[in-house]
Amino acid sequence: MNKLIIIAAVGKNLELGYNNNLIWHIKEDLQFFKNQTINHHILMGSKTYLSLPKLLPNRKHIILTSKPKNTYPEDVIVINSIDEFNIVRDSINDDIYVIGGAYVYKEFINDADEIILTEIDDEFSKADAYFPKIMYEDYDRVIISENKNNIPNYKHVKYIKKNR
Ligand SMILES: NC(=O)c1ccc[n+]([C@@H]2O[C@H](COP(=O)([O-])OP(=O)(O)OC[C@H]3O[C@@H](n4cnc5c(N)ncnc54)[C@H](OP(=O)(O)O)[C@@H]3O)[C@@H](O)[C@H]2O)c1
Repeated sequence: MNKLIIIAAVGKNLELGYNNNLIWHIKEDLQFFKNQTINHHILMGSKTYLSLPKLLPNRKHIILTSKPKNTYPEDVIVINSIDEFNIVRDSINDDIYVIGGAYVYKEFINDADEIILTEIDDEFSKADAYFPKIMYEDYDRVIISENKNNIPNYKHVKYIKKNR
């Protein structure tokens, strides 16, 4: 079975974004996101899809939406429900990264095998999208890297679901 891996960058209060955009710009974190997701499938909600400047190269996009499939480019996989996603997931021989946004993270957080977070050491009062509550006791926490030179500081942390 392929793994379902959530990947997100969050502030200290689990802030995710504002006005359908990220609140911060951390170039090295965008590179980290690219390194993690490159050559894999990425699953996202329609709003996160709309927030992208273009399709991300070398990744197969899976978009969740209630809208008709023919309103999307031909080279993306369009999914109209979680049930449909679960059927399509069975036919994908690859790990699937759930890349947002708030609504989609909430729908998949209980199913995810891993959560990879960029934990940003700052608060963002302007946020209007938040990552869902994490049941920390259900995961083993591994620090991948720490960046204390950037302002704000941030850590890359992997939460691995226990008993999988
Ligand atoms: N910090 C980060 O790492 C990060 C990552 C990604 C996004 N973000 C931020 O998150 C915010 C966007 O999040 P969001 O919650 O507003 O939107 P979203 O989760 O990206 O998309 C929500 C949309 O997805 C579709 N959808 C979700 N579940 C569905 C289902 N079960 N069946 C059919 N369609 C479904 C619906 O689209 P339709 O309306 O088309 O039906 C829904 O309106 C932005 O601020 C963005 O910048 C942050």
